[in-house]
Order: sequence, then C-alpha cells, then structure tokens
Amino acid sequence: MKHYLGIDLGTSSLKVVVVNQWGVILNSATMSYDVHTPQDGWIEQNTAKWLNALRKALADLGRMNSQILKEISAISVTGQMHGIVPVDKDGNALHHAIIWSDRRNEEELATLKSELTNDEWVAVTGNRPNISFTLGKIMWFQKQFPDLYEKTYKFLLPKDFLRMKLTDTFETDYSDASATLLMDLPTLQWSQKIIRTFQIDETKLPKIKSSTALIGSITRKGAGVFGLTEGTPVICGCGDAQAQALGNGIINSKDWLCTIGTSGQLFVSTNEPGIVSNGTLHSFAHAAPGKWVLMGATLSAGMSFKWLAESIFTKDIEIKDLLDLASTANPGAKKLLFLPYLFGERSPYMDEKAKGTFIGFTNEHTKAEMARAVVEGVLYSLYQSFKIVENTIGYKCEHILLTGGAAQHDLWVTTAANIFNVPVVRNRNRGGGAYGAAMLAAVGNGDFNNLEEVSEGWGLHQYEKVYHPNQTLHEDYEKLFHVFATAYDSLKEIFHQLHDCEVCK
Ligand code: XUL
Repeated sequence: MKHYLGIDLGTSSLKVVVVNQWGVILNSATMSYDVHTPQDGWIEQNTAKWLNALRKALADLGRMNSQILKEISAISVTGQMHGIVPVDKDGNALHHAIIWSDRRNEEELATLKSELTNDEWVAVTGNRPNISFTLGKIMWFQKQFPDLYEKTYKFLLPKDFLRMKLTDTFETDYSDASATLLMDLPTLQWSQKIIRTFQIDETKLPKIKSSTALIGSITRKGAGVFGLTEGTPVICGCGDAQAQALGNGIINSKDWLCTIGTSGQLFVSTNEPGIVSNGTLHSFAHAAPGKWVLMGATLSAGMSFKWLAESIFTKDIEIKDLLDLASTANPGAKKLLFLPYLFGERSPYMDEKAKGTFIGFTNEHTKAEMARAVVEGVLYSLYQSFKIVENTIGYKCEHILLTGGAAQHDLWVTTAANIFNVPVVRNRNRGGGAYGAAMLAAVGNGDFNNLEEVSEGWGLHQYEKVYHPNQTLHEDYEKLFHVFATAYDSLKEIFHQLHDCEVCK
C-alpha cells in the first residue's frame, strides 16, 4: 500500500495529512503559530516556528500511528503564496519571512506602477501590481538592506523554504512563481523584461520546475530533524490556492471553486494563459501541467465575519452563534451593505487603500442584519469576480463548489447559491490544500499518470449536497449587487484620502 504525505504551510497553522493510494486520509495533524506585526502593516513570521510546527505535527502523526512515517512513499508541499525568505548558501534564513499580507512595500509598489502600464504588466505576468506579491518585497530588501540583499543566495517562497529544509535543494514551481510578478506567464520562465526593468539579480531566484517534478529526497539531516525516512522522494509542490483547487478536483474548466477561508477566492482552470480581463483577476499557472488559472481574490472573507464577531461585538458571541443570528435576519439585511475591504482589496480593484465600510444604516438595523450584511458583502465581492470570469471565458458556470471554513454553515452556502444564481455543491472530501499536495506526491512518484487520474480515482467529484438558488431572492440580490458594485467607485477618493491622511496615525 502506498502512502503520501501532504504538507500545507498556512498563514496561521501548518497541516500534515497522510493519504493512501485510494485517496483515504489515514491521519492528519495541525500545529498553529503566530504572525508578528513589528510595525503597523508589517507582517512577518519566524521561519523557525514553521520548522518547529512541521516537526511537532509529524511527531503527532507518529504518536497516532508509530509505523506511519516509515511507510511514506512520497512527500509534497504547498503553502501560503507571495511571501519571501532570503536565505544564504547553507539555507539559513537571513530575515523573518515577510508574508503575503505584509503592506510595507507601498513605495516599491508605486515604482512598479509607474514603470510599466497595467496592460504591460498583465501581458507579461498575467497580473497587475499589488501590495501582496513578491517582487515589491524583494525590492524592499534591495533598498532597505543592501548588505542582506547581496548576501542572499536565494529568495525562497514559503513552501520552498520548508522543502529546502527537507532536501537541501533550492527550487520553486510554476504555480507559486506565477504569483510573484516576476514570471512570464506564457513561457513559464522568469521574465527578462521585469528582471531588467527592476534590476533584480536573476541568480538569486530559484529554478522553476513543474509542481509534479521530483526535486530530491529527504536528506539524512532532514530525516533526523523531522523523523522522516532518509531517501523518501520529495515532489516540488504548489501554491495553496492551486493545492486547494487540486484537493477539490478542480482541474478542468467546467469546474468552478469558491473558497471562503480567512480570504476568499473564486477559482477556474483554463487551458491557456493570457485570459486576462484587464488584471482585475489574477492569472496564474495551475499545478496541473498545461493548465492555467483565473482567480478572483477577496482579501477579507471569513476574516470580515471574525472581525465583526471578535472586534466589534467583542467576543460576547461565538462565530457559529453569530451566523445563526444572521440567519434570522431577512435576505438583503434591510438594505444594509458591507464592503469587505478591511485589508484593502484585490479583485477587481487591486487597491491596497480601500477600506471596510457599512453603507445604509437606519435605526431599524440590529446585530443580526449587520452580521448578515457581512456575509452578503463578502459574497457580492466574490460575485464580481464570478461575473468577470463568465465574461472572460465566454461560457456559463453550471455549478460551483464551495469550500473553506465557511462551507460548514448553511447561511454561507444558501446565500452563495442565491447571489451567484447557480447550484452550489459541497464536496465530500475535506482534505483541502494538504490533500492537494498529497495528490502531487502520488503523481510525482509515478504511481498515477496525471492529476486527473488521481482526482477520478480518489472520487473527488462525489458531492455531498446540492443547494439550488431561489429565483425571487436572486432577483432582489441582483438589485442590491448593482448598488454594491458601484459603491467602490463613489468612495475611492475618500478611501485614498483616509489612507494617506497623516494626522490620524
Ligand atoms: C493567493 C493568496 C492566498 C495566500 C495565503 O493569492 O493570497 O492564498 O497564499 O493563503
């Protein structure tokens, strides 16, 4: 019996799963860690805590089943995208990881925007510049710490840092590289145009490989530190958005995925790159060879609801209870709108200065409507991406798979069906990104011909329940959505003035 280990280096925790050759999850373990915010907008993680979390999670697996780590046939990794760790030749981190949600590189972002037009960016990388992506973070190191920049042997993405500690090799994969603003999306190579324009030393970037490529094997040191077996094959892996898609069987274009975790994503697979919709969505490489991705990203999805529950209603109510309370309010929340731009917004505005906003309070609104408005606002934002995807790829969505923490509560699922006006399904398999990494391990180890075969064999398209839209409610939602979709343009100037206002710091 073959066993595959999938590792997912998330933003708040690291998850490991062991999956057998039939796709059955045998064991899993999760270890949490924190983020540091040394200054407003600076978001870092201590890479030693990532390594410790991996060691502890694997030790937990070992405690559940003493044989399991000895029987791993292959390993692969996924993780949070866009962040960066500068390392020396021996693989030592020279700085904490600057992660995707960090916003310190506003000046560098302005440079990126001034040197090339949006159209030029999108033609090369498939993306418009935004505060999360890696290039601005590397430029920040270049400017603030020229010595550290010089000393850096490679700039590694988070999951590549973790894999380097297992194999002693320095690579990345197409899916993660495509989300750095440094890769030429059609050719899947580092872009000479971007490298020249921003004077990045290409030797400091890792080689880019396929997500299913065999990268190396567990070193003696890696085996000692993590309790794995020396020589176990290690497969390259992919970014967490792509792994989440894989783990839900989203490989071909008829399948649409909506993930609502901390952030929210609308994800569709395409057969060619360059479907760009003016950079309002992200275009990435898929982890499945020969496939690309169109992705809408709402930065604060589940996070908006958590913020409401914990910061505004000050912990006097649990998230599940607040969702139950929101379910008691009528759809449309008495015309209260919420713009979920707590961290700025990516799709469709790519504006780090946008702000979270409630619009339309009257004295009749209660906590229940506020909570419902947050759910609806997050879904309206994802519906904006949904509409752009439909227009871009030129065919209608038949159904959408909803995953992430939110898929657990009926309010999110039924509201998604009513706003998107398509059947929403929940997948039986809940393995998520780590499960997607295990699929890459299975293919990379040569046990399956391709990822489609794994997805088929592991029954990823067996849906648990279908939620059908209510036409009348959809028509009401469509009217409110129209107001939602025009609100940002009316408020943009105010958001920017507030953001740039020095006196209120
Ligand atoms: C993708 C994205 C997130 C991060 C954190 O664009 O920002 O998926 O990788 O999970």
